[in-house]
Amino acid sequence: MAIKPVLKMGNPELLKVSEEVSHFSSAELDELITDLRDTMQALNGAGIAAPQIGVLKRVVIFGVSKNARYPQAEDVPETILINPDIKTLTEDTDGMWEGCLSVPGMRGYVNRPNKIRYSGYTPEGQMIERVAEGFHATVVQHECDHLDGILYPMRIEDMRLFGFETEINRER
Ligand code: NI
Repeated sequence: MAIKPVLKMGNPELLKVSEEVSHFSSAELDELITDLRDTMQALNGAGIAAPQIGVLKRVVIFGVSKNARYPQAEDVPETILINPDIKTLTEDTDGMWEGCLSVPGMRGYVNRPNKIRYSGYTPEGQMIERVAEGFHATVVQHECDHLDGILYPMRIEDMRLFGFETEINRER
């Protein structure tokens, strides 16, 4: 069990591009994944990316089942995704109120393509490929953005739709 401190927006490490993982099934990779999972669970997140705990590797984990932070969201399978790749399958977008463990207490409304195909590898080097829509697609895109140094506030088109969780009227 290792809950790591999560870097917060403003930390220049979060703006860097992470490196691909070149060795699978390694003790180092297993330790990173354990740290990510422990940290995500402790903070009740829907996902987390390695750079958020200061490790600039292309590793994300995500998964949602009845998460208190996302009460209306559908389930997203518990997934470890290494060296991910995303292909957009539609120009249609969905807007969602996003949050991020690196931007605590805030929410912002972000439009993203609502259907994607994503692929990547398991810690053992097995390929994963899935088509995802809706909230699942948003979570994957949000987490993979971290690997390119992009935080969701950079994608907010209308900054009036960004603010403290406690103040936002989501009916708008
Ligand atoms: Ni995030």
